[in-house]
Amino acid sequence: MAIALRDVPAEKSVALLVKLAAQYDGKDRAYLEALGLGSEGKESAVYRAASASFAKDPVAWNDAASAIAWRLHPAEAVPALVARANSTQLSTEQRKRMVTALAFSPTQEAANAMMDVAAAKSGEASAQAVWWLLNRKSNHWADFNLDKAMKERGVYDPENAKLTAVEMPAPAVGTTPLPESAEIAKLTGDEARGKAAVGVCYACHRIAGTGVEFGPELTEYGKQQTREAIIEAIAKPSASISHGYEGSIVKTKDGLTITGMAVASGDPVLMKCMGGVIQTIPRSRIQSMSKMDRSLMYEPAMLGLTGQSIADIVAYLKSLK
Ligand code: HEC
Repeated sequence: MAIALRDVPAEKSVALLVKLAAQYDGKDRAYLEALGLGSEGKESAVYRAASASFAKDPVAWNDAASAIAWRLHPAEAVPALVARANSTQLSTEQRKRMVTALAFSPTQEAANAMMDVAAAKSGEASAQAVWWLLNRKSNHWADFNLDKAMKERGVYDPENAKLTAVEMPAPAVGTTPLPESAEIAKLTGDEARGKAAVGVCYACHRIAGTGVEFGPELTEYGKQQTREAIIEAIAKPSASISHGYEGSIVKTKDGLTITGMAVASGDPVLMKCMGGVIQTIPRSRIQSMSKMDRSLMYEPAMLGLTGQSIADIVAYLKSLK
């Protein structure tokens, strides 16, 4: 019904959308998405009416109210989004959701609010706000002179930002070469041993709720791929590099080498480095920037893998639901 109301003019649809919003349980993502699509172009009207029944203090909102504000994110919601983003009573996840909602509002109020969250320097929500400011300052929020404001409020000063060298280790020498993939495929893997062996992958992959997001999330991967493809991906990381995960190397004028994925390559360059940390590198400090011709993933020898441990890891990845 919500989607059917998408093209119905506001005077006929808002009351119905508000009724649907009131029945939202705060969990069903498809319901929320339908509500968002149905409200397209009339977000403000739907939000104003729907929020009349939300708790007065945004910090006390239930999941449904928070999700509706996140999905509709009209200008009217900005003060409430900021209150939630800055509240130490809410979980980091809840706060970060509100920061994301702010980032999709094209107004000066939203940009100012994001600056407030960033300047509050309260943990991850503030770090994420800084990231969004740097990301939005050259597109949606280009007119708001954010560079100057960030510097003044001590949020980000490109000249003084501390950078950390991140270099790929040299390939391991003198190690026994791995057997051919076809030979590894013949080995019988052990799920339990694989679960232990996969520990070295957590530095760069999220798997079944553990680990850091740097390379692709691997929870579902095993289900979708053949054993041969998984073996190849682990044994020869540079043979085929997943789209969107290509590596870059930045050399700074003061002699640092920073390897990672360039998630934005305007000014500043944003480099996602191993461990998931995003470094912000002003163009003025870059000597050179180039694409890597190999994967950011470590070679099996650097991870201490043998043919058998790869077979075990494959068995474990295949066992994940
Ligand atoms: C130093 C970081 C790093 C470590 C450690 C690492 N990986 Fe990766 N991995 C990556 C990156 C980056 C990519 C994406 C680039 C590519 O495809 O080569 C990747 C890609 C993959 C892919 C392909 C995924 C896809 O969607 O195509 C698989 C499978 C994989 N890794 C498995 C593993 C396993 C298993 C381990 C542990 C034994 C491991 N990786 C350890 C960084 C790492």
